[in-house]
Amino acid sequence: MTALRTAILISGGGSNMLALIEAAKDPAYPARPCLVLSNNPDAPGLARAAARGVPVAAVDHRPFGKDRAAFEQALDMVLREHGTEFIALAGFMRVLTDGFVGRWQGRVVNIHPSLLPLYRGLDTHARALSAGDAEHGCTVHWVVPELDAGEIIAQSRVPVLPGDDVASLAARVLAAEHALYPPALAKAIRQAG
Ligand code: GAR
Repeated sequence: MTALRTAILISGGGSNMLALIEAAKDPAYPARPCLVLSNNPDAPGLARAAARGVPVAAVDHRPFGKDRAAFEQALDMVLREHGTEFIALAGFMRVLTDGFVGRWQGRVVNIHPSLLPLYRGLDTHARALSAGDAEHGCTVHWVVPELDAGEIIAQSRVPVLPGDDVASLAARVLAAEHALYPPALAKAIRQAG
C-alpha cells in the first residue's frame, strides 16, 4: 500500500514522535510523516522534527480561549494544507471535541500511558502507584469522542518495581511506548485500509 501522509500531533518533547519518524525511514512502513503539529509553539519536539526534515507547525491554543471549535478549525486548516490522511497523537495534551474527532473518525490514533481501560485522563503513573498495581503500561487506541475510550489497537505491560516513584515508572513506560507505537500505528493504518 502507498504510505499514508501522517501528521503527528505533540505538545512536548516528542520522544514518541521521534520513534515514529525513525520507523518511517523503512520504505515499507505504511505511514509517511507529513507534518509535526503542536498546540505549544515552544514544544521541544518541533525543533527535533525539523532537524529530521519533517515539516513542522504550531497552532497555539491560548489565543482561542474557550473556543475549542475555532482552535480545531485552525488545526484542520494546517492538517489539510499538508495533505494529511492520518493522524497520530503522540503526547498531544489537548482534549479534542466531538466535532474534530467526527471529521477524522477512523483516521486518528493515540498513545496513552496506562493499561486502558484503567486510568483514562491524567496522572496515570501516580494512580497506578497509589492503587498498588503490580503492572502498568501503555495503550495505542483509536480516538473516539469519549476520552481514551476508543478500541484498543495494541498494549504493552511493564512491571511496577519496589521503590518505584512516578519518574522511574514513567521512564519505564515511556521506553515501552517507543517500542509499541510504531508497529501499532502500522497495524492501525493497515486496518483502516
Ligand atoms: C507519553 O507518555 C504519552 O503517552 C503521554 O504523554 C507523553 C508524551 O511523551 N500522553 C498522554 O498522557 C496523553 N493523554 P513524548 O512527548 O516524549 O512522546
